[in-house]
Amino acid sequence: MTARFYIVGNWKMNQKLEDINNFFKDLGDLGNERQYEAWLAPQAIHLTTLLEKANALNIQIGSQNISDNDSGAHTGEISPSSLIDAGGSFTLIGHSERRSIYKESNDFINRKTLLSLEKGLTVIFCCGETLEEREKGMTESVVAYQIEEGLKDIPSNLREKVIVAYEPVWAIGTGKTASPEQAEEVHLFIRSKLTELWDGTLSHKVPLLYGGSVKPANVEGLLIKPNIDGALVGGASLKGADFRALCDAADKRSKLPGQLQG
Ligand code: 13P
Repeated sequence: MTARFYIVGNWKMNQKLEDINNFFKDLGDLGNERQYEAWLAPQAIHLTTLLEKANALNIQIGSQNISDNDSGAHTGEISPSSLIDAGGSFTLIGHSERRSIYKESNDFINRKTLLSLEKGLTVIFCCGETLEEREKGMTESVVAYQIEEGLKDIPSNLREKVIVAYEPVWAIGTGKTASPEQAEEVHLFIRSKLTELWDGTLSHKVPLLYGGSVKPANVEGLLIKPNIDGALVGGASLKGADFRALCDAADKRSKLPGQLQG
């Protein structure tokens, strides 16, 4: 993965057509000399609605979910190849809302991950503990298990297309963000886990995003940490002006020393 910072907007089940038009109106031009990536994951039904505007701004589009099959009798699912056909380049996998509401297992998440990578998508693999797990001191064991199971059997030539997003469940949509220190501590752990599973050279290149109540007011403090390479943002990615402010913070950060080398 190329060495840059990432601002990824997860729009979840939000944004009507009018909201999308307003988003791009307020976002403005991000410029071409960027050393960070700006990506958006809209509702699947709006992937192609966004495409032209996103392409013009060099914003990559992806999906929030993906099937573990590429075609056939799987009503309601999103095929990795069709996502690519529609202009998508990445998918989120294992978001805590998918894990908790739709009961996605680590095994299912792993099958989606393997297929998506094989078909050529970049995978943003999400992991994170609940409040109860954190309070019981289980953060590392929960995250380790999600990573071991969810990222198992990935062939070495496809590992460079993996991004890991640490999203503590207690920080998602609650306004209660992890402190930069709390996030950095887990990111460091994730990096050491990836080194154990893969190898040190590669694990130092895997972008690690933090997600959970990231907003313009707190993003700089997070991005300054050495193992936080970007943000996966829900609520604060819905308005063009907020997303712009997050991108501006990533731009500023990318010009300081200390970023990952690709
Ligand atoms: P919020 O930024 O709204 O807390 O959502 C985070 C998230 O779930 C991104 O995937």
